[in-house]
Amino acid sequence: MADSTNVLHLEYPILPLLMQRRSPRAYTPQPVPAAVLQQVFTAASSAASCFGEQPWRYLVGSRASSPEAYDDILGSMGEFNQVWAKSAPVLAVSIAKLTFSHDENPNAWARHDVGQATATLAIQATELSLQVHQMAGFSVDKIRASFNIPAGYEPVAVFTLGYPGNLESLPAPLQEKETAPRVRKPLAEFMFEGAWPTLETERYDAATV
Ligand SMILES: Cc1cc2nc3c(=O)[nH]c(=O)nc-3n(C[C@H](O)[C@H](O)[C@H](O)COP(=O)(O)O)c2cc1C
Repeated sequence: MADSTNVLHLEYPILPLLMQRRSPRAYTPQPVPAAVLQQVFTAASSAASCFGEQPWRYLVGSRASSPEAYDDILGSMGEFNQVWAKSAPVLAVSIAKLTFSHDENPNAWARHDVGQATATLAIQATELSLQVHQMAGFSVDKIRASFNIPAGYEPVAVFTLGYPGNLESLPAPLQEKETAPRVRKPLAEFMFEGAWPTLETERYDAATV
């Protein structure tokens, strides 16, 4: 069962796994078994995608079984991410195929679909007592160079994967981030029934939803 640290508290009840998923920075060194990794990445393939293209690709570096790839992914990250990400046993890069396979036209929804696949993967990971932390703080150029990513494919995000570690293993400022209240916009700020809000109607306190 997933851990219940800093779960989300929202206005309306949602699936427990969605409340439990979060982006932690502390990991144990425990490796993720190959069969579990396969299960997690299989979950990504269950996501919907435009034309059923499944434009997502994942490069995976495991400290235990593919240390060179692991080091390359870690080295692509900004220092502010490396400082905690280096404790995770598995690092990965999500990559979008930018054209449709059936006609070679640009796929404007490729990154959207990669995001959906990774979100799905993260929920599966939560169910398996694992945790995922996605990052934009990495160098696309370094990933391209390290892994010879072909033209037409674009690195989208990097992420950690592993089992929850002790908060105390993190530097103090990061410990604070881990325990800070997790805040979400109220529903009325992003769900607009009937029409886009105007200056006159943009009274969130009076919204009907
Ligand atoms: C595309 C994307 C990029 C992100 N980039 C970073 C990052 O570079 N470093 C970091 O510490 N967290 C990063 N995050 C994590 C977010 O800060 C985090 O998801 C957000 O604060 C909400 O917290 P939660 O995932 O625990 O609910 C990123 C998340 C996403 C989805």
